[in-house]
Amino acid sequence: MASDQTSGSTNARLKLRVAEVREEASGIRSFTLVDPAGGSVPPFTAGAHLLVDLENGLQRHYSLCNDPVETHRYVIAVLREPNGRGGSSFMHDKVREGVELTVSEPRNNFALVDGAKSYLMIAGGIGITPILAMCRALNRRGADYRLHYCSRTVETTAFRAELGGEPFAPRVGFHHDGGDPAKGIDLRALLETVPPGTHLYCCGPNGLMKAVEQAAAHWPTGTVHFEFFSGTGEPAQPHPGDQPFELVAAKSGKVMQVPANRTILSVLEENGIHVDSVCQEGICATCLTGVIEGVPDHRDLVLDAQEKAQNKLIAVCCSRSKTSRLVLDL
Ligand code: FES
Repeated sequence: MASDQTSGSTNARLKLRVAEVREEASGIRSFTLVDPAGGSVPPFTAGAHLLVDLENGLQRHYSLCNDPVETHRYVIAVLREPNGRGGSSFMHDKVREGVELTVSEPRNNFALVDGAKSYLMIAGGIGITPILAMCRALNRRGADYRLHYCSRTVETTAFRAELGGEPFAPRVGFHHDGGDPAKGIDLRALLETVPPGTHLYCCGPNGLMKAVEQAAAHWPTGTVHFEFFSGTGEPAQPHPGDQPFELVAAKSGKVMQVPANRTILSVLEENGIHVDSVCQEGICATCLTGVIEGVPDHRDLVLDAQEKAQNKLIAVCCSRSKTSRLVLDL
């Protein structure tokens, strides 16, 4: 996954005021965040997200869906997830206009490549948020793209009116499956032929992304891009057969042992080495850390195949080591 700012590279926090809350669809609200002093906000690129501080130390990452040329505001949209871990309930129940939120500067693990011949976008449900910012950017570039937007019903389709009008309408197809994926988009047919020079971007529920991954398995390496916004909801678990290994934090020279049933992140914390983390399940990229020596056993969903093969970064919340010693840039 391309990245124009490696997550974890900045801890800068912004205090922003909620200027507007809008119902975008059944269960989906958008929140417009502005500088309380009326100034501009740091720039972002299409596909970027903000880490939002919630209550009780919770943080969640929400993709920006407004036009990246805007410098006066950020817009995020949040789906209420009744069985979630509390982030969406907080946003829906407690965040009103006038409330101040603390957020990170924008980070992007899902950046658009420049100069593709065409772009194929597939969004599922609330996964429309980064894709919408991308389509806005592609409209400005005059790029060739097509968006397939999958949702259960018209009522659960956020930004339906906007995407049904100019300049989006000729490029957008809506797919409503009523909750039965078998009645939804035919991914095999859609992705069977690979248009030369096309890049595919997908964000949505894990089931949709898995189906896209399978249907696009024959696409050239580096042309298929995913943004995960939810995982299993559980911290990373050990795999059967996991082995202990030696972990070295190069800057302090500290040498630690990572047992088979512990994560690198927890061992680092125990030894007083703090690494920012949010999801703890390999989907947010917050904990990405440089690798100096050794071969990681990548188990995250944020690095793409090429980045995993390069072994320069590791998600310490979930990944492990294939070698008996792993040296990190910490
Ligand atoms: S904390 Fe989210 S990827 Fe590691």
